[in-house]
Amino acid sequence: MTKILVTGGTGALGRQVVDRLREAGHDVRVLSRRPGAGTHVGDLRTGVGVAEAVAGTEVIVHAASDFRRAGGADLEQTENLLRHAREVRHLLYVSIVGIDRIPFRYYRNKLACEQAVVDSGVPHTILRATQFHELIAALLRTVEKWPVAPLPTTFRFQPVAAADVARRVAELAVGEPLGRAPDFGGPEVLTMAQLARVWQGVRHRPRRIVPLPVPGRVGSTFRAGLNTCPDHPDGTQTWSQFVVSNPANPYTGRKKPS
Ligand SMILES: NC(=O)c1ccc[n+]([C@@H]2O[C@H](COP(=O)([O-])OP(=O)(O)OC[C@H]3O[C@@H](n4cnc5c(N)ncnc54)[C@H](OP(=O)(O)O)[C@@H]3O)[C@@H](O)[C@H]2O)c1
Repeated sequence: MTKILVTGGTGALGRQVVDRLREAGHDVRVLSRRPGAGTHVGDLRTGVGVAEAVAGTEVIVHAASDFRRAGGADLEQTENLLRHAREVRHLLYVSIVGIDRIPFRYYRNKLACEQAVVDSGVPHTILRATQFHELIAALLRTVEKWPVAPLPTTFRFQPVAAADVARRVAELAVGEPLGRAPDFGGPEVLTMAQLARVWQGVRHRPRRIVPLPVPGRVGSTFRAGLNTCPDHPDGTQTWSQFVVSNPANPYTGRKKPS
């Protein structure tokens, strides 16, 4: 039994990582800003509660991220965590495929987080995954309510079930540190138009889709699929299977921390 801290253990990916690790018999702590949501209350941005959550743990899975504060939030959070993580035998950082090739602000910060992990000297594994089915579904759930849904129809994605990524994370976390692990992608690369067609086939919405032009390098890199890793079609659940299963949206229903 290993003592493991999961940051972001209340999130779309993290909560499934926690389940897998507990099923395997590990002693798992969950850091959350919200009292009652995890086992330890703490805020990686301010550093409050982080030392207490880390104390005595052997492994950390760092899956916390603050997409809403695209500025330097994730880097600040990762640095605050690393400050207290000197004694752990393994830190696994969850990252995103293509962040070094796509000039998107959130991605630049993820890349800086990866570098901070490497520079810290803490034995680590960095696992980059492609976009989760859950994230694409959250986007489609938003636009399906609109009379006309503007979507970047020519963007390519290789969506993967967070459940598939969670299994991989749980397996890697209790193994030896690998440095950079092989990328982890979904079973197929599809355009946003193809993803939306499957969604419409099951949910009969959105009624009308119009192509959303995304100029500049961010647009061209997503159109070129630089966010995909076709050599690693590792996830097993396809987008169609995911949509048919009609899962709850893990990005809603969380009370925002004050
Ligand atoms: N979503 C994707 O498609 C995708 C694809 C590849 C990789 N990733 C990466 O996978 C990781 C998990 O993504 P996700 O979509 O599962 O995230 P998510 O559902 O948005 O969850 C974010 C988590 O971060 C925690 N968090 C945020 N700010 C915090 C702070 N200041 N202190 C402590 N905890 C904080 C939240 O906990 P509380 O709200 O409970 O405090 C929550 O559990 C991220 O690193 C993301 O970049 C995501």
